[in-house]
Amino acid sequence: MPLIQEIDYGTPPSSADTMVTLTIDGYEVTVPEGTSIMRAAMVAGVKVPKLCATDMLSAFGSCRLCLVEIEGRGGTPASCTTPVAPGMKVSTTTDRVRRIRRGVMELYLSDHPRDGFTSPVAGSSEFAEAAGLVGLREVRYGTGGVNHLDAKIDESNPYFQFDPARCIVCSRCVRACEEVQGTFALTVEGRGFASKIVAGQDEPFLTSECVSCGACVQACPTGSLIEKSIVEVGQPEHSVVTTCGYCGVGCNFKAEMQGDVVVRMVPWKDGKANHGHSCVKGRFAWGYATHPDRMLKPMLRERITDPWREVSWDEAIARVAAEFRRIQAAHGRGAVGAITSSRCTDEETYLVQKLVRAGFGNNNIDTCARVCHSPTGYGLKTTLGTSAGTNDFDSVDHTDVVLVIGANPTDGHPVFASHLKRRLREGAKLIVIDPRRIDLVRMPHVEATCHLPIRPGTNVAVLDAMAHVIVTEGLLNEAYVRERCEPDAFADWAAFVSEPRNSPEEVEKVSGVPAALIRDAARLYATGGRAAIYYGLGVTEHSQGSTAVMGLANLAMATGNIGFPGTGVNPLRGQNNVQGSCDMGSFPHELPAYRHISDPGVRAIYERVWGVTLDPEPGLRIPNMLDAAQDGSFRALYVQGEDIAQSDPDTRHVTAGLEAMEFVVVQDLFLNETANYAHVFLPGSTFLEKDGTFINAERRINLVRKAMAPKNGFGDWQITQKIANALGLNWHYRHPSEIMDEIAATTPSFAGVSYAKLEELGSVQWPCNEQAPEGTPVMHVGHFVRGKGHFVVTEYIPTDERTGPRFPLLLTTGRILSQYNVGAQTRRTANSLWHEEDLLEIHPHDAEQRGIRDGDWVRLASRSGETSLRARITDRVAPGVVYTTFHHPDTQANVVTTDYSDWATNCPEYKVTAVQVTPTNGLSDWQQEYRDFAALSRRVEVVPAK
Ligand code: SF4
Ligand code: SF4
Ligand code: FES
Repeated sequence: MPLIQEIDYGTPPSSADTMVTLTIDGYEVTVPEGTSIMRAAMVAGVKVPKLCATDMLSAFGSCRLCLVEIEGRGGTPASCTTPVAPGMKVSTTTDRVRRIRRGVMELYLSDHPRDGFTSPVAGSSEFAEAAGLVGLREVRYGTGGVNHLDAKIDESNPYFQFDPARCIVCSRCVRACEEVQGTFALTVEGRGFASKIVAGQDEPFLTSECVSCGACVQACPTGSLIEKSIVEVGQPEHSVVTTCGYCGVGCNFKAEMQGDVVVRMVPWKDGKANHGHSCVKGRFAWGYATHPDRMLKPMLRERITDPWREVSWDEAIARVAAEFRRIQAAHGRGAVGAITSSRCTDEETYLVQKLVRAGFGNNNIDTCARVCHSPTGYGLKTTLGTSAGTNDFDSVDHTDVVLVIGANPTDGHPVFASHLKRRLREGAKLIVIDPRRIDLVRMPHVEATCHLPIRPGTNVAVLDAMAHVIVTEGLLNEAYVRERCEPDAFADWAAFVSEPRNSPEEVEKVSGVPAALIRDAARLYATGGRAAIYYGLGVTEHSQGSTAVMGLANLAMATGNIGFPGTGVNPLRGQNNVQGSCDMGSFPHELPAYRHISDPGVRAIYERVWGVTLDPEPGLRIPNMLDAAQDGSFRALYVQGEDIAQSDPDTRHVTAGLEAMEFVVVQDLFLNETANYAHVFLPGSTFLEKDGTFINAERRINLVRKAMAPKNGFGDWQITQKIANALGLNWHYRHPSEIMDEIAATTPSFAGVSYAKLEELGSVQWPCNEQAPEGTPVMHVGHFVRGKGHFVVTEYIPTDERTGPRFPLLLTTGRILSQYNVGAQTRRTANSLWHEEDLLEIHPHDAEQRGIRDGDWVRLASRSGETSLRARITDRVAPGVVYTTFHHPDTQANVVTTDYSDWATNCPEYKVTAVQVTPTNGLSDWQQEYRDFAALSRRVEVVPAK
């Protein structure tokens, strides 16, 4: 398999409709008006030498290598900065331009290391290629003069290095940091020969504002900025295009390989979600796949305090099947269940829910989306008719007003954040509703017009107040509402939000947001042009999560902001395949594509294909499984790729439920916290080791391609198939494409999906069927999926979780750029350099009252439990609010979160917990006890499998 070389056209494409025809070196070529001569030449098959140009960045024209001659014009213009014109006749290889290019290249080489044969950095760089294209044989000036050859290499970043000796100051890195990433961490300092690239205030990359997205590394033509893996391992020799295994943005990458060793991950320019960009996780944090902590052999034990014993796959699978059957025989069909993974592929998730429904004969299947975006499914289905975001990411290019609520895109969804920041720099307005001053509120060249620093738990009140302003000030899009929405439901809603108790002035009292700010935000959203909503778990993880999602849909419908590019209600999904795991039927009441299990017509489809009779009764949700375990009616659980002991709320409730079960099977990469309560451990495979699909936050079905053989021996879908066959189900899938064929055959919104189509188009967004054979970027165009849009009255009901004298502060939780979810993967990479431990953010006023200094250990206590962690004093949080992440098992932040949950979906109320914070000396007793227990539980007896 060859290394896939992406074509670099030198400058970005033009989107003009008018076409221009010209001649380049005798070849006629037709391109859109505004295209550069350089790009037109590439289209015509003529490669012009270049250094400062690349098609990811706007043209700059500094290196003078790409000069051409144009008939009838004097001079030698740069082809990267000169646009085409009708009838133009361009020559790219005249003696004159060749001579000038050689002179330029000679000057560069006179101050450049000559290690082309010995360095893995130099040999394959664009710089070396340009030297070859120019045809330089000798450098007249030598390297004896003043030069930069002794400049010190900056190796501070764990993933890439900067060697100033190789730098030609083309500023591609600086422009990539600005234009692509939007961080503005790099600058050119000094002038002329003394000019140099500096990070931050001329400091090491690691301590600067650099977010390690790698855009500069990708842009660098000389290897001055280069991945350390290339320096250490050498150049890759083949590559495989696949999809990131981290967040719901769904970036496509080229996994560049030497044999079965990943050398680097390069963002794929044709990736429709990322367009060649990435963040630090996807580009660099893949080392967990080969981390020594990975478990590669199946293991068994009788009791959770016994050491693990390695066994053969046959023995492990036989034990799993025998125990599930024994427990069902003794305690009933409903005594067992499973949890699917939002990190696994669609095909794997589909098989786990099929195993439960067809093999266990019940519907006790649930997924981690229960604890994140289940309210999205409920809220958007109720109002609009589909449980998914409405628009594609590219739609943001058409947005005039962006409302970000309960999301922190620069940390949680960084590549989308870069796209969004670009649009904001172009002039779109921004409203942020968040208790914290997230980075987007103010960062280089981006400033929110309104930041509503909401008191946690009052989203619904604030959305109702915005609706109040829109209705009472006559800012509705009446024609849209009349044409597209149910009139009675609209009238009820409009009357409700118009009530004085929903005015900004009243809502200010509960939300803490000044009424004027709410009015400004509402007016801007309603009248600022095309408005798009992006939201995250700060909306869903509340006792009124579903209500808030419906409140957002109400706002969008009332202002006519659904069904066009640049508008919509768009959930930013957390894990790579949380959309897919929901789509694939992971909820206990829904078969794939959100069709209710009680619908006999839908059941009949699956009964025919699966050859079984399905139970029409919805099964248990995760919290109900845990409750039922404690009352003895639920006894065995199969958990694929989830760590509920760390990620789910009220940890003690979770662990008590797990401990009460007779039999727990965990399938994962590592012995995670849930595995401490397991009796069988089945080693899982990483996204690099299997074929399949992930579905991102914009409903995009992306191919995941195997880059290396599974180190554990099998893809996760094969392991589930083994269990199914041991239970007598007789499955014979030979490849995940056959599973997708079954999904397409049984799911109308996937009817047009096949691996052949995904190979052909790169990716498609569902619905993809006869009506939309190439997928659906924007939903609800012309009419809503449910017919008429349905307004819902969204009464604000304060959470029962209240502050008081014992617990006077409100805790809210979130995530950080460098870590991912429970941290199982990212903690096993150098990303921990940026976030070694979870910290508690506390406002200076609250810290001072408690005698807490920055870095002190503090005890964080709620009515559910307590934990200890270090404090960070910051005014990013408002007085009365504290904030932490949950990436580290030592912190166990979920020990303090409560069992309150969304009224409609049971999604936990992670974002509001009444707490007290007091100084302490170190880990709490509970943390210490848990550490001891986990160490005991993780012992592995090294008895090789027979
Ligand atoms: S580090 Fe690379 S991209 Fe940046 S200016 Fe130097 S040569 Fe150009
Ligand atoms: S933004 Fe998300 S999908 Fe893209 S590289 Fe980062 S973690 Fe991966
Ligand atoms: S590539 Fe055109 S001036 Fe550098």
